[in-house]
Amino acid sequence: MTEPGRSRQTAIFVRGVAGRRPRVPVDPARLEAKARRAMSKEAFAYVAGGAGAESTIAANRAALERWRIVPRVLRDVSRRDLSVRLFGQTLASPLLLAPIGVLELAHRAADAAVARAAAAEGVPMIFSNQASVPMEACAAAMDAVAMGAPRWFQLYWSRSDDLVASFLRRAEACGCTAVVLTLDTALLGWRPRDLDLAYLPFLEGRGIAQYTSDPVFRASLREPLPGAPDAARPPISLSTLRAAARMLRRYPGALGQKLRSGAPRAAVRRFIATYSRPSLTWEDVGRLRAMTRLPVLLKGVLHPDDARRAVDAGASGIIVSNHGGRQVDGAVGALDALPPVADAVGGRVPVLFDSGVRGGADVFKALALGAAAVCLGRPYAYGLALAGEAGVREVIRNLVADFDLTMGLAGCRSVAEIGRESVVTAG
Ligand code: FNR
Repeated sequence: MTEPGRSRQTAIFVRGVAGRRPRVPVDPARLEAKARRAMSKEAFAYVAGGAGAESTIAANRAALERWRIVPRVLRDVSRRDLSVRLFGQTLASPLLLAPIGVLELAHRAADAAVARAAAAEGVPMIFSNQASVPMEACAAAMDAVAMGAPRWFQLYWSRSDDLVASFLRRAEACGCTAVVLTLDTALLGWRPRDLDLAYLPFLEGRGIAQYTSDPVFRASLREPLPGAPDAARPPISLSTLRAAARMLRRYPGALGQKLRSGAPRAAVRRFIATYSRPSLTWEDVGRLRAMTRLPVLLKGVLHPDDARRAVDAGASGIIVSNHGGRQVDGAVGALDALPPVADAVGGRVPVLFDSGVRGGADVFKALALGAAAVCLGRPYAYGLALAGEAGVREVIRNLVADFDLTMGLAGCRSVAEIGRESVVTAG
C-alpha cells in the first residue's frame, strides 16, 4: 500500500530545497485567503458566503473543534489502508467531492477540471445539479483520465417531474452510480454577502448547464411560462447588456439561432420558475426510488427522526450536512448532528458527512462519530480558483495525506479501526 502522507510531505519538502513553495497553500485559511485574491468579489462572496450572520459556518468549525482525538501508541502503523467500501464500490479513501454549483465562478474550466482531477486522484465527484458543465461532458472528461472513474449525481427536485426523470436517465447513462437528493435547498437561503452585491449567478445564465443541455428542458422553452414572476426584469443599463451578452455566450448553439429564438433569456426565466419545489414531502422519496435503479442518498438530514424516516422511506444512504452553513443561519453544527443521526440509522445504511471539513483530523473525527465517508466542499473550489485541475488535485492530495498521517499517528491501521473510542469531547 502506498503512503500518501509521507510521499506528499517528501514531494513538498524536496521542491522546497529547490526554492519552490506550493502555489496552492496547504493551510486551509491561507488557501481561502489566496483564492479570494484570485477571484472576483462576486465569485468569492458566492462561494465563501453563508446564510444570515454566518453563525452556522462558525458552528460547523466549533463542532469539529469540540471533539478531540485520543491517539493510541505502539500499534504498528507502518502499513495503513485508507480504503472504504460504499454501495459495492471500493474507494481509495473515505473522501468524495461534494456537489458544488456554478464552478465557473472559480475557473473557466469549471466542473470539467474538477472531473479530471477527481478521476486522476481516484476520488468520486458528485456532479452538481447546478453545474457549469453538463454531466455528460464531465463523465467523458473523467473517462479520458480513468475509464469508469467513480461519479454520482446530485439532484434538486424541480417543479417538473419530467425534467427530474430526464436528469436521472442522463445520470444513469453517463455512469453515475448513486443519486444524491439535496433536501435543504427547497428555498434559497438568505445570504447577505450576495444580497449586498446584488449578485446571483443564475440570472446571468451561469450554473444552469444541466438544464440547457437537457432535451426536456429545451422543449419546455417553447411552452408559455405559467405565472412566471416578471419582477425579475431589470432596468436596461450597460450592466444589463453585459449580463445579456454573457447569457448569450453561455447558451449552447449557433449565435444567430440563439439571437432569433431568444432561448438564452427564456432558459434563465424558465430555470427561475422551475428550479425548486418547496412542497416536497416524504412521499416523494418513495416516488424517486421508483424513478431510478440507482441508490438514492438524502443530503441535508440533521435530525435523528428524519434519519429514521429516510431509511423507512427507502433511502440507501444519508448525508449529514447543513450545506456549509449556506441555508439556515443559527443551525446546529453539522458534526453535532452526526452522532444522533448515526445512532438512529444504526448501521442500516451508510451515513456520510460534510460541512466544515478542512483537514485530516476533521475527516478522522467524522469517521469516529459514525460517518462512512466525508465530502469535501469549499477547499477544492479554492484549489480550482488558484490552479485549475492541478489546484484541485493538490487540495485532494493534501487532505488525503493529512488524513493518512492523522490516522496512523492516532494508532489506527485502517478506517475500520477508527471508532467512538478514538475521540472524546473537549472540556
Ligand atoms: C454548495 N453546495 C451544494 N450542495 C448541493 O447539494 N448542490 C449544489 O449545487 C451545491 N452548490 C454549492 C455551491 C457552493 C459555492 C458551495 C460552497 C456549496 C453544498 C456542498 O455540497 C457542501 O454541502 C458544502 O460545501 C459543505 O460545506 P463546506 O465544507 O464547503 O464548508
